Formats: sequence, C-alpha cells, structure tokens
Amino acid sequence: MRNISLIFKQFSRSVLLLAGLALLTTSVRAQDVAKGEALFKQKCTSCHKLDVRMTGPALGPLITSETDDKWLTHWIENNQALIKANDPKALKIYNEFNQAGMTVFSELTDADVANIIGYVRAEWKKEQSAPKTPAGGDAAAADNGPSTLVIWGLIGVIIIAFIVILVLNKVIASLERLVLARKDLPAEAVTEAVDEEAEKRKATIKKLLKNKKLVGFFVVCCVIAGGTWQWVTLWNTNVHTGYQPVQPIKYSHELHAGIMKIDCQYCHSGAYKSKNASIPSLNVCMNCHKTVKTESPEIHKIYDALGYDPATTKYDSTKARPIQWVRIHNLPDFAYFNHSQHVKVGKVKCQTCHGPIETMKEVYQYSPLTMKWCIQCHKRTDVDYKGNAYYDNMVQVHEKIKRGEKVTEASMGGLECGKCHY
Ligand code: HEC
Ligand code: HEC
Ligand code: HEC
Ligand code: HEC
Ligand code: HEC
Ligand code: HEC
Repeated sequence: MRNISLIFKQFSRSVLLLAGLALLTTSVRAQDVAKGEALFKQKCTSCHKLDVRMTGPALGPLITSETDDKWLTHWIENNQALIKANDPKALKIYNEFNQAGMTVFSELTDADVANIIGYVRAEWKKEQSAPKTPAGGDAAAADNGPSTLVIWGLIGVIIIAFIVILVLNKVIASLERLVLARKDLPAEAVTEAVDEEAEKRKATIKKLLKNKKLVGFFVVCCVIAGGTWQWVTLWNTNVHTGYQPVQPIKYSHELHAGIMKIDCQYCHSGAYKSKNASIPSLNVCMNCHKTVKTESPEIHKIYDALGYDPATTKYDSTKARPIQWVRIHNLPDFAYFNHSQHVKVGKVKCQTCHGPIETMKEVYQYSPLTMKWCIQCHKRTDVDYKGNAYYDNMVQVHEKIKRGEKVTEASMGGLECGKCHY
C-alpha cells in the first residue's frame, strides 16, 4: 500500500504547498517594499540618501540599526512633537544636525511608515551585499558574474527538499507503528512487522543506490553546484569593487569637490595631461589650510607632515615626512592605462569610471577595473574623432595607403613620447 510512489506523491504535494506559501509571502512583501520605495522617493530623498549624509543623516545604516520601530514611526510622522517632549534621542539627533529640523509628515499612516522602513532596510541590505555597480545603461556597465542569489536559492530548494523527504519518511514510519499496534497484534508481532518493514525499506534504498540513472543525476547535481561555486569564486578573485580603506587624514571629497565644488583638475591635474591622475602634494592643501580650520586636529596632521609650525608660520624640512595615502585604484603592472587618453581625448567624465566621487566622504572603488570592464566600454563607446589631430592624421595616412604611397611609423605618431615612455 505504501510504496515509493505514495511517498513521492506526498512529497510533491508538500513541496508545492511550500512553494506556494513562499511565493505568497514574497509577493506580499514585495508590494509593501514597492509602496515604501515610492513614498521614500516622493517625500524623503530631498533631504536623505541611504548611504551618504545630506541635509539629514544617511538613513540606510541608521534605520537598519534602530531597534525601536515605534519610536522611529513616531519620529517620521511627527519629529517636532518628540523634540518638544524633550525626548533625549530626538534632541540628540536634532542638535547633531544643528537643529536643521525635519518636515512633519502627519499625512503618513503607521502602515505607510512601516512600508518606508521596510523599503529602507531591504534596499540597504541589498546595497551592502551587492557590489557597487554603475547605473544601468551606463557605458561602463560592470560585470557581476552569475547571480549569487539564484545559486543560493537553488541550494536552499535542494536542502529543503531533502529535509521534507526525511521528515515524511519518519512520519510514515511512526504512523505504521500506530496502525499495526491498533490491530491488537501481540507485541512481538508488531516488532516483527516493523522489522520487516525496515528490511523492506533498506532493500528499496539499496535498489535506489543501484539505480544508475538516479545516482548519475545526483552526481551531476553535485558537480554543477561545486563547479558554479568555484566559477563564482574565481570570477571575483582580485576584483576590489567597493574597496574603501581608511586614509591617514579625514579628507572628504564630498566637502571639497561636492559642496565647495573645487574642480578635480585643481588637485588631480595629471589626469588631463599624463598617464597618472596623481594625488596632490600637501602644499596644494596649504593654499587654503594655512588659514582655514587651523585649529582642527586633522589639519594639524598636514602641518606635522610638512614640518609647518602654525605659530611661527615657518617650515622645518627636517621634521617633514610624507603622508601615506592608501592607494585605492590599482591595475596590475602589465596593463597600461592612460588617464589623459580617456579624459582629454576620449572626453570620458571622471565619474563614469570613479562613480559619484563628489558625494563620497571617503573614496571607494566604484568600478571593478577588470579587463571585461575595459573591453565592454571600448565596444560601446563612440569615438569622437572630429577636430582631433590624431584622427585627422589617421585619415591622411589612410589616404596615403590608398594611393600606394610610402608610410613611415613616424607618420603614424611613432615619435610621440607617450608611445614608448610611461
Ligand atoms: C526637509 C528635509 C527632510 C525631509 C524631507 C526628511 N527629513 Fe528626515 N531628517 C532631516 C534632518 C535635518 C534630520 C536630523 C534631525 C533634525 O535636525 O531634525 C533628519 C533625521 C531623520 C531620522 C533620524 C532619526 C534618528 O533615528 O535619529 C530619520 C529616521 C529620518 N529623518 C527619516 C525620514 C524619512 C523616512 C523621511 C521621509 C518620509 C524624511 N526623514 C524626510 C531632514 C529631512
Ligand atoms: C582638494 C583636492 C582634491 C580635489 C578637488 C579632488 N581630489 Fe581626489 N583626491 C585627493 C586626495 C588628497 C586623495 C587621496 C586621499 C583619498 O583617497 O581620499 C584623492 C583621491 C582620489 C581618488 C582615489 C585615488 C586612489 O587611491 O585610487 C580618486 C578616484 C579621486 N580622488 C577622484 C577625484 C575626482 C573625480 C575629483 C573631482 C570630482 C576629485 N578627486 C577632486 C584630493 C582631491
Ligand atoms: C580651496 C580651498 C581648500 C583646499 C585646496 C583644501 N581644503 Fe580642506 N577644507 C577647506 C575648507 C573651507 C574646509 C572647512 C569647511 C568647514 O568650515 O567645515 C576644509 C575642511 C577640511 C577638513 C576637515 C577639517 C575639520 O576638522 O572639519 C580636512 C581634513 C581637510 N579640509 C583636508 C584637506 C586636505 C588633505 C587638502 C589637500 C588635499 C585640502 N583639505 C585642500 C578648503 C580647502
Ligand atoms: C576610463 C576610466 C577612467 C576615467 C575616465 C578616469 N579614471 Fe582615474 N583611474 C582609472 C583607473 C583604471 C585607475 C587605476 C590606474 C592604475 O592603477 O594604473 C585610476 C586611478 C586614478 C587615481 C589614482 C592615482 C593614479 O593616478 O593612478 C586617481 C587620483 C584618479 N584615477 C582620478 C581621476 C580623475 C580626477 C579623473 C577625471 C579627471 C579620472 N580619474 C578619470 C580609470 C579612470
Ligand atoms: C568609460 C569607457 C572606458 C573605459 C571604462 C575604458 N576605456 Fe579605454 N578608451 C575609451 C575611449 C572613449 C577611448 C578612445 C579615446 C580616443 O578618442 O582616442 C579609449 C582608448 C583607450 C586606449 C587607446 C587605444 C588606441 O587605439 O590607441 C587604451 C590603451 C585604453 N583605452 C585602455 C583602457 C584600459 C586598460 C581600460 C581599463 C582599465 C580602459 N581603457 C577602460 C573609453 C574607456
Ligand atoms: C620609439 C620609442 C621612443 C620614443 C617615441 C621616445 N623615446 Fe625616449 N627613450 C626610448 C628608449 C628605448 C629609451 C632608453 C634607451 C636609452 O636610454 O638610450 C629612451 C630614453 C629617453 C630619455 C633618457 C632617460 C634616461 O634616464 O636616460 C629621455 C629623457 C627620453 N627618452 C625622452 C623622450 C621624449 C621627451 C620623447 C618625446 C619627444 C621621447 N623620449 C620619445 C624610446 C623612445
């Protein structure tokens, strides 16, 4: 009566049920997150971002780490009420932001706020786990390799399936015991019958193990899972997207390049005329910091490194020592990359490759810098050859070749210093 087909019927039924339930819960949650996203974009993004401080604090880490949702809801709906009530937490953040004051959102219901919180947490989790990639459609679209989510999902489904099979087997075994006991058989007969059943089950398992197709299928599954894992690992080796080391001085691009709008060229002039963008010397900082923020301990690090004494405004070169900025972007030595070629000739914006630097308090590596990344952009980017002496020359050389005239390496730019020198 109870044979393998029955077990499998039960098994498939439970798997269907599980899948149905999972689908139901995720679709419900997705809807809420979507509502939260719409509200967040409509009401909050003018002052908040998830990852960086704007008028208000960066909400990703803040909302994710806040455990008191009731308080959060209260704050988001009416922060002024909390401040008036002298709530210590509210006063702390209020003063931290120089009493900037957040809008009161009395039109938001508790459910709306719950959706917003849900969205922020989900989105922040996603951002934390995903490598930082350029926006969609960008010429410099990054490579992610296969989606890890899908792989983990598959592994999860397989594990769940096995657990379900085990549990069902156990349940069936104990039900059998019950049925046999009910039949008023003597105790020995029951154990005998159960033993017999156990024997039968062992025989079936042996049969299954001998079934080459089944074993083959299992082995193939293992090989695919192992192979995929290895592929993903190898694929991401030496890719440092998101790398964000702590720098010796808390220099902020958000402040200098973003808020104060100092041009990149002011500090990284190399990027426009040479291979290297170069990090500015501290003397560049001194153009302003001789007089700006002279009391800040961070600025004193600049003074110490230069051997500068703010009291006497004299430099003592014997006390000077270089500041060791931690290098973030680094190609291997065998790959040649030239900034001026891209920035000046190709007119590629710094942000296409380095991301929104002007919003970064601390710089992180935005693009993967893999060969695939270089190649993809080269395949997708149109070259602007008009009014470019190099390409005009190429056209001339082309004409010469067509006319069968002599063409030297020199006529193709072979005398340019940069062709042979780094
Ligand atoms: C007009 C600008 C502005 C808007 C719009 C705004 N906020 Fe704020 N928010 C702030 C400021 C400024 C602070 C810092 C505290 C202060 O100064 O009042 C803050 C603080 C917060 C905090 C920190 C509370 C804590 O845990 O310490 C949360 C959470 C928050 N906002 C959520 C939101 C949400 C959600 C929205 C959209 C519904 C929103 N904010 C819209 C300006 C704004
Ligand atoms: C006031 C000077 C200054 C300005 C303006 C400036 N930077 Fe920087 N930049 C620095 C300093 C100093 C560092 C090294 C410390 C660090 O990484 O934060 C740096 C580091 C970087 C790095 C990381 C270098 C590495 O180690 O790989 C990039 C990329 C960068 N800047 C891009 C830009 C872009 C793009 C702009 C314009 C939007 C810009 N910078 C404007 C001073 C400046
Ligand atoms: C064009 C002028 C200018 C240049 C060049 C400049 N800064 Fe600044 N920097 C400022 C101003 C203005 C502030 C302070 C804004 C404020 O009041 O908070 C500041 C703030 C800072 C702070 C924060 C100090 C604190 O304690 O709040 C640090 C650190 C800093 N700069 C480092 C640097 C470094 C390193 C360089 C050189 C790579 C540099 N700055 C170049 C104008 C400049
Ligand atoms: C086409 C992509 C691309 C563009 C555009 C680009 N960079 Fe880079 N940047 C890189 C790569 C790749 C590296 C790593 C270079 C290496 O390791 O040799 C790098 C490195 C840097 C560094 C580290 C120091 C150095 O010279 O290697 C700085 C600073 C920098 N870039 C600033 C800039 C600035 C400022 C701009 C805009 C004027 C800019 N970059 C435009 C790709 C780019
Ligand atoms: C954002 C797009 C973009 C990315 C990313 C990019 N490049 Fe380029 N690259 C260009 C453009 C555009 C040109 C053509 C410039 C011109 O008009 O001469 C170019 C030209 C070059 C050239 C000169 C080719 C020739 O025919 O002389 C080299 C070499 C080069 N890139 C190397 C790299 C390397 C190495 C990387 C990756 C580390 C890279 N590029 C990433 C856009 C890109
Ligand atoms: C066809 C390749 C090529 C071109 C183009 C080229 N060089 Fe050179 N250069 C070399 C080689 C190879 C050496 C090293 C051999 C030597 O020292 O004699 C060198 C050596 C040098 C040196 C001596 C370095 C030292 O330490 O002794 C200087 C300076 C120099 N080149 C500058 C330039 C300048 C400036 C240009 C552009 C006008 C240029 N080169 C163009 C190939 C080239």
